[in-house]
Amino acid sequence: MPLPSDLAYALDPAALMASTGNLPDPWQARFLRSRAQRVLLLCSRQAGKSTTTATAALHEALYYPPALILLLSPSMRQSQELFKKVMQVYRQFKTAGKLVEESSLRLELPNGSRIVSLPGKDETIRGFSGARLIVLDEAAWVSDSLYYSVRPMLAVSGGRLIALTSPWGKRGWFYKEWTDGGDDWFRIKVTAHDCPRIPAAFLQKERKSMPENRFLSEYMCEFVDTSDSVFSYQNVMDALSSDVKPLFPVIGAAR
Ligand SMILES: Nc1ncnc2c1ncn2[C@@H]1O[C@H](COP(=O)(O)OP(=O)(O)OP(=O)(O)O)[C@@H](O)[C@H]1O
Ligand SMILES: [Mg+2]
Repeated sequence: MPLPSDLAYALDPAALMASTGNLPDPWQARFLRSRAQRVLLLCSRQAGKSTTTATAALHEALYYPPALILLLSPSMRQSQELFKKVMQVYRQFKTAGKLVEESSLRLELPNGSRIVSLPGKDETIRGFSGARLIVLDEAAWVSDSLYYSVRPMLAVSGGRLIALTSPWGKRGWFYKEWTDGGDDWFRIKVTAHDCPRIPAAFLQKERKSMPENRFLSEYMCEFVDTSDSVFSYQNVMDALSSDVKPLFPVIGAAR
């Protein structure tokens, strides 16, 4: 006997995405079906990371009420873009009810769940508590300071954290968690080759028309030194030495 559609969507966020007209790519389905508490999505440009995460946020809001979902992006423009994606998915999802409240950065569902999209500043998020899901979009550009002020918000709520981005050099918390963050994280890497909507011929032309390190970063998910780095990551690491004694005593250092 087929499941009533709402139960099918509740059980399977990938089915919810398919119902909006976007058949999920294999990685999108894998991500949507995971209930991992901590997720890192390292993706090519245009792979579909914002659309998929918007679907995940909506699924959480629809089927785990009353849920508070915070979408954090590095800038106001990016917050607006991500929120537009949420609204697009919401409108395409046929069984969604009428909204109680809707503004350019916030919606409230009849079941009491809220999705709030915010530009990432420590001060703006400190007023929120009890988030069931926190999404960090363009995470490589989200400051370390914001990341470390977000984490304690999940201590009491037991909520989930999803960070999605293309890489931006060997720097910052995302790079650290991706390369050295241990088994707490469920990691998904999606290069442009894994995205069926990015044709191979387009990629070949892109490779020829941009610096190699830029191509590797934008499309191949590689943490390479970017053109705005004065010194390469390797130069900096090579310059560090424990043989050199500090000129002045380091306050708080063990004797
Ligand atoms: N499974 C899918 N089927 C069809 N279209 C899709 C699918 N997933 C994403 N798209 C489309 O691909 C385009 C890019 O998606 P999206 O903006 O989510 O990607 P992104 O990785 O966040 O891009 P950017 O790197 O620019 O932030 C959009 O037009 C979106 O609707
Ligand atoms: Mg995006």
